[in-house]
Amino acid sequence: MSLLEVLDLQVSFNTSDGVVQAVRGITFNVDSGRTLGIVGESGSGKSVATQTLLRLTPGARVSGTALFEGQDLLKMNADQLRRVRGKQIGMIFQDPLSSLHPLYRVGWQIIEMIRMHEPEMTKAEARKRAVELLGIVGIPQANQRVDDFPHQFSGGMRQRAMIAMALALNPKLIIADEPTTALDATVQAQIIDLLLRLQREFDTSLIMITHDLGVIADIADDVLVMYAGKPVEQTDRRSLYYRPHHPYAKGLLESIPGSTGAKGRLRPIPGQPPSLINVPSGCSFHPRCAYVMDRCITEEPPLRPVGAANDIGVGHDSACWLPEAALGLGSETERLRAKAVGEGRVGAAKQLAARISSDVKGTVAP
Ligand SMILES: Nc1ncnc2c1ncn2[C@@H]1O[C@H](COP(=O)(O)OP(=O)(O)O)[C@@H](O)[C@H]1O
Ligand code: SF4
Ligand SMILES: [Mg+2]
Repeated sequence: MSLLEVLDLQVSFNTSDGVVQAVRGITFNVDSGRTLGIVGESGSGKSVATQTLLRLTPGARVSGTALFEGQDLLKMNADQLRRVRGKQIGMIFQDPLSSLHPLYRVGWQIIEMIRMHEPEMTKAEARKRAVELLGIVGIPQANQRVDDFPHQFSGGMRQRAMIAMALALNPKLIIADEPTTALDATVQAQIIDLLLRLQREFDTSLIMITHDLGVIADIADDVLVMYAGKPVEQTDRRSLYYRPHHPYAKGLLESIPGSTGAKGRLRPIPGQPPSLINVPSGCSFHPRCAYVMDRCITEEPPLRPVGAANDIGVGHDSACWLPEAALGLGSETERLRAKAVGEGRVGAAKQLAARISSDVKGTVAP
């Protein structure tokens, strides 16, 4: 049994503009001590999917199951949930001030959280633990800084303090939602290093959410690529980097500075993420896909195996009509893709492809 087993999670919101289908069926497992990277552009449903696990999406319509150590998080009552939040599953957000209250000292907040879940611990013991945790996450002079207010910390230090808070109760799983997005590149790398080290030290499982595939490269064991509320490619990190199948995953790889596929040039994905109220027909990526074929416009591709499972049973699935063998960034694969596209593009897809191609020419960065 995996630590967390999410099966066909669907989340939607009723709004005055219509129903927002934020998460349209996602399935994944997280095993003990492993890191799952969830990657996708802004608005693809990453935060809603993970916040729903802890029922932090009030007003949402939710279906599916999310078994944490065999217990369905989506069916827990308020009392059971309180015991899980923080103690079993910790969360780290992009904006530390959403977890750190600006008017209370950093240490006090960590101490209160520890004592809420472990009431038998004395104040002095909890304070000692808070100082120790701040030290572990790299806050210098932790025994003094423990009495600082959040605004006295830099952005990077606040993020470290939030990690200390997430670790305070030694949870089995940490969900980190874009924890480095607001930070500059150097601090970002330090925070990723820290998470990696702590995760190994504490043997915690981690779900790392990001819009930047480059972040995942350093940290994830497995990767789930999300587009328009659905997984479009799901596999281990190595397979995703060297043998991507879905054109969206390939596009994300090519938009990482210095990535192999881009040959030193940044190649942004043309167009905008779709509305989750009116999701495009067929393959939801079709209005932006350079490989669009006729059937992509009308038929939704199912998530299906495109490669063999690795030695620990992690498979390689993709939701795309291109041939299963169209894996990777090499010229041989490109020929395979071109052949499939040549045969599959006879009608509407031809015009669409011409438009996408002119968009691409207009957006390529030097
Ligand atoms: N409370 C809400 N009510 C209505 N729509 C929401 C709500 N929360 C999120 N959404 C919508 O759900 C979609 C997915 O959002 P989100 O999960 O935050 O994306 P991501 O984290 O991938 O950037 C977006 O279209 C967003 O506007
Ligand atoms: S199914 Fe078609 S439109 Fe969708 S990603 Fe694959 S080739 Fe592109
Ligand atoms: Mg988000």
